[in-house]
Amino acid sequence: MIPYDQLFENNRRWASNKKAGEPAYFDKLAAEQHPGYLYIGCSDSRVPANDIMGVEPGDVFVHRNVANVVANTDLNCGAVIEYAVAHLKVRHIIVCGHYNCGGVKAAMQPQDMGLLNPWLRNIRDVYRLHQDELNGITEEAARYERLVELNVIEQCVNVIKTAPVQQSYLAQGYPVVHGWVFDLHTGLLKDLAIDFEARLRSIQQIYNLTSTPWFRP
Ligand code: CO
Repeated sequence: MIPYDQLFENNRRWASNKKAGEPAYFDKLAAEQHPGYLYIGCSDSRVPANDIMGVEPGDVFVHRNVANVVANTDLNCGAVIEYAVAHLKVRHIIVCGHYNCGGVKAAMQPQDMGLLNPWLRNIRDVYRLHQDELNGITEEAARYERLVELNVIEQCVNVIKTAPVQQSYLAQGYPVVHGWVFDLHTGLLKDLAIDFEARLRSIQQIYNLTSTPWFRP
């Protein structure tokens, strides 16, 4: 563990390096934010949003929780999506999971996890939705990796179900939702290539929260 006191030394060094590179760096940073992206990822310490995307402070609005869950009753995540879409007007929303995710692994074990139970339920529900595919994968490690991917896809669908995303997309043509998985062994991101328009259309029949009846059976 890095000693606590060193964190402030690190901070001073970081600030002075930034300033040395660009004297007006913090004046610009303090002025306003115009991030083009909302990133919803796992709290795992090994998956730092800005680093894996190679972007600077100000470039991405970030929400992280255990196993990158977008739960309907989670005011925290809901407020982040509302603020990012309606006020910051982000063009892209990324849900990023990662292989070796402890939250997803815990969800695969049928046991009492205390306060984590209602949280992991979101992922256990993903398993139930896709149990035919998952149970068809005999090797546990491969099944675990596929659940990581399916969890990302279902959390993307949960983002697409929200009113701010649907209403903004209908009016402006953005944001578009993407699903990614980060591989800790390679450091590389995998794009799950979610077809945003198709996913949106597929949920319109009962999840349309816009004033326009744009679902066509
Ligand atoms: Co994780």
